[in-house]
Parts: sequence; C-alpha cells; structure tokens
Amino acid sequence: MRDYILLFINGREHRISGANAFIPVTDYLRGELGSCGTKVVCAEGDCGACTVMLGRPPEDAKAEKLEYKPVNSCIQYVFQLDCSHIVTVEGLKLNGKLNPVQQSMVECHGAQCGYCTPGFVVAMCSMFDQGKPLSEWEIRDGLVGNLCRCTGYEPIVRAGLSVDLEDWSSFETLYPSSKMIKQLREARRQTAHIKVDGKELYIPTDVKGACEYKSKNAETMMVSGGTDVSVNMNKRGLVPDRLLSTGNIEGLSQIVRQTENGREILQVGARVTLAEIEQYISGLNDELKYILWVFGSPQIRHAATLAGNIANGSPIADTPPYLFVMDGEIEVTGTNGKRKIKMTELYKGYKKLAMQSDEMITRIFVPLPLKNEIVKLYKISRRQHLDISSFTAAFRLSVEKGRIVDASIAYGGVAPVIMRLPKVEEYLKGKMLSLATCTEAGKIARDEVTPISDVRGSKDYRLQLAENIFIKFYHETAERELVCQ
Ligand SMILES: Cc1cc2nc3c(=O)[nH]c(=O)nc-3n(C[C@H](O)[C@H](O)[C@H](O)COP(=O)(O)OP(=O)(O)OC[C@H]3O[C@@H](n4cnc5c(N)ncnc54)[C@H](O)[C@@H]3O)c2cc1C
Ligand code: FES
Ligand code: FES
Repeated sequence: MRDYILLFINGREHRISGANAFIPVTDYLRGELGSCGTKVVCAEGDCGACTVMLGRPPEDAKAEKLEYKPVNSCIQYVFQLDCSHIVTVEGLKLNGKLNPVQQSMVECHGAQCGYCTPGFVVAMCSMFDQGKPLSEWEIRDGLVGNLCRCTGYEPIVRAGLSVDLEDWSSFETLYPSSKMIKQLREARRQTAHIKVDGKELYIPTDVKGACEYKSKNAETMMVSGGTDVSVNMNKRGLVPDRLLSTGNIEGLSQIVRQTENGREILQVGARVTLAEIEQYISGLNDELKYILWVFGSPQIRHAATLAGNIANGSPIADTPPYLFVMDGEIEVTGTNGKRKIKMTELYKGYKKLAMQSDEMITRIFVPLPLKNEIVKLYKISRRQHLDISSFTAAFRLSVEKGRIVDASIAYGGVAPVIMRLPKVEEYLKGKMLSLATCTEAGKIARDEVTPISDVRGSKDYRLQLAENIFIKFYHETAERELVCQ
C-alpha cells in the first residue's frame, strides 16, 4: 500500500503525500514548485491556459512508450495523475533553446499579454508530436480548447502553419519512456491510500477494491476524468471527505467490438476517454463521431470518460440520447457482482441513478446502427464547440420503401432527465416519412415535454426546438432517403 502519489514532472520524480495530493495540479505546479509558466484563468476547463501534456503508461504491458495527451491541469487534481508523467511549458525547451513552436509564436507575433500563450504552445506541441506539418483546419480544430482575449487567432494560426519541423523533438525524444515506465507501472500495481485531516483518498488497482471501499464508505466521490467533479470542487464548493480515483483500475481501458443478432456493439470500458472513442468509431458511425467532436474541447475529451458523462446524470449530457435510442446498456459492478441496466431505465430523477452506493459503471454497451436505420443526433448550444447543450435530440428510424417501420426518439434538456418520446414514436410507426408526418410529430413532441427556463434557454425556446427539430431532421435526412430509393 502506498501513501503517496507518484508523479513525474518534466522528467523529474515527485512523491507527493499529505494535503498536496488533494489540490489541483496547477496549484501544485505554481504554489509548491514555483513553476508559474502554466497559467490559470478560468479554473474550470474552458480556456486552455493551463494545458499540460499528460503521459500515461498504456495498459498493454508490451507497449513501451508513454502515450501523451493534452489536458487542462486546473481540473486535474494531483491524485488523478498518480503514476503518470506531465510535461509543462517549462519542460519544452531543449538545450536552453526555444522549441520550434515557441520560436514560431515569437516570429509570427502570436502573443500580446502572453497569458494564454503557454497553453497554446503546449496544445500545439501535442499536435506536432508526430513531427508532421498540419493544415490550417487541423490547427484551428486542435486549438478549439484554447482561448485568447487580446492577440486574436490569426497570428497564432499563422505561427502554427510556420513551425519549422526540421529540428522537431517529440515528447519521447525529450523524455525517454524507458527512464520512467517501469517505475510507473510497478507503482500502478499498488493501491494508494492517503489520509489527511479526516479526508481520505483511495486509488485501487481493481474493480473489487473500488467496490469494497465504496461499500464501507457510502459517501465516496468517484473520480474518472474529473471534468465534472473537479469543476464542482473548484467552483461550487464541493469538498468530498472520501475520494476514489478510477485512474489505476486495470481492465477498464479497452473497446471491444462484438456482433449480437446481426448488430455490432461496442463494449466500452469505464476508463476509456471520449477522445479514444472518437478515434475508434471513425468510419463506423459519423453521427456519434460528430457529437463527440462538438463535445467540449480536445483537452476535455482526452480526460473525460463516457462512464462519467452517463453517471453525472445531467439532462443535457451529450452522449446518453444516442444510447437511449439505440437501446444501449451499462454494466455496473458492486460487491454482489455485475448486472446490466438499460440506459432508458437508469435515470430515476434529476441526477438520481438506479445504482447502489457500492456499485460503479464498469462497461458501456454502445450499439451501432444497421444499414436500413436512419440515425441523427442534434446538439443545440450557443457555440458549436466548448459549450454545454441547451437542447439535445436523437432520432433512430427504420424505413422501408419510404414508410417508417420503427422509431425511437430521445430528447435532452426538456425535463429533469433525458427522455424517450413514446407518443411521438407511436404516431410515427407506419407513416410515410414526409414533411407532413414530421410536422405533426413535432407538434406531438412539443406537448410531450416539460422544459424549464434556465441560463441556457427559456422554456418557450426549448418548446420551439422540440417541435422544429423534426423539420430539420426531415430536410437533412428524409429528402435524401426518398431521393436514394
Ligand atoms: C469545459 C467543459 C466542457 C464540457 N463540455 C461538455 C459537453 O460538450 N457535453 C457534455 O455532455 N458534457 C460536457 N462537459 C461535462 C463533462 O466533461 C462530461 O460530463 C464528462 O463526460 C464527465 O466525465 P469524467 O470522466 O470527467 O467524469 P468525472 O468528473 O470523473 O465524474 C462525473 C460523475 O460520474 C461519476 N463517475 C465517474 N466514473 C464513474 C464510474 N465508472 N462509475 C460510476 N460513477 C462514475 C462521478 O462520481 C461523478 O459523479 C464539459 C465539462 C467541462 C469542464
Ligand atoms: S485555467 Fe482555464 S482551462 Fe484551466
Ligand atoms: S495574448 Fe493575451 S490572452 Fe492571448
């Protein structure tokens, strides 16, 4: 049993014990180490000023290199990064020289006040880690999670396009994995337990250990990517007495593809991040890929898990509507073993889940559409990226010769929980897929939902969306389907 967190920072080993294990990584870097290059602006994952590269040893014992991803260190607490290596902006310099991204930012005038600059530099270094040039679109897309208030994005993008890759050094070259990976893997096989002033932190190595700890400590706050929990700790005064990180649990980091009754289903482990799913489903499911692409930012998707999005229980979470219409399920494990729960039976009220206090989500079953099914997902938010939805919708229709044979519709943001629309589904069955059908279905949908007004949209706005989204769906899909016949 360990009573410290093992974290390498810019290649140097740190054993962090006591209260420092419970603070955001930015506080540790800036407050404890005096490494103030990493900046804090929003402290809630929205601006990217605090971006660092996170390298973890892959679970596959044969893989010899750490895998690096950019994350927001303001919403990564020290305990979450146990058994990993982080590279901060200070760690990018090589032999006292600026690295090519830093040099390019200087030459293209990519900074004014400079507050956002370290975040942009680290995010760009992550994008160039393969040493390949990038298109303007790829640079803009990769920088979605980084905000600049004074320079403007044109010089920054120009800097990205002008990076001289001749002398590029990958993170692996700067910090050879061979110097850290064995030690990180050995430590990861040990449970960590830290107690300070009545607060406890538990990092188990297996699901059994997690469930046993939860069964003895009912109020335990489980943390996976921390992109919800840490924002609540930073901004909403959440101070859990018991924290359990899933970070070192073995066996939950895989995606397995299987076929059941002719349908392909992905079994997604609870530790798999949204970015990993996004990459896996490329070419398999464009709709789900799109909804993951507009989810937060690269830094958020590299930390956040599907399990966390589901367990958070928000009625405006972006991934559950798809699982609602596709008959997705979750596997939960507790001290009495495993069981499956249908996604449509998971939410019992606002943020109330049909799970026991000793249980955790271990796997998610994500069905893929069949060839004759039309699946469409919608996220309505004020901005395309880095925004929480005001309203979400998912459609799955089986259509034969223009007639709807089966229909599953789910909406989010119109009730305390994500909901299927049984009246609309019943109405649609057997109807021709026409503008008249969709117009009427929209009216029925409007009557079936009970939205409230809040900061993301008024009740009337959401009612209008509930109705009009059917017209959008018709024009985007039905016309195309009819033409294709
Ligand atoms: C800047 C920003 C942008 C965001 N954008 C979006 C967005 O576009 N769309 C969206 O839907 N959400 C968004 N979110 C919210 C958040 O990123 C997602 O809900 C994310 O999927 C949470 O996953 P996580 O692994 O980080 O969860 P965590 O924060 O670790 O946990 C969330 C909840 O799930 C529980 N939990 C975690 N793992 C398990 C498990 N295995 N079993 C049981 N319970 C578990 C935790 O106890 C906690 O209650 C955003 C958040 C931020 C900060
Ligand atoms: S300080 Fe804004 S994302 Fe971390
Ligand atoms: S240079 Fe000032 S915020 Fe970007």
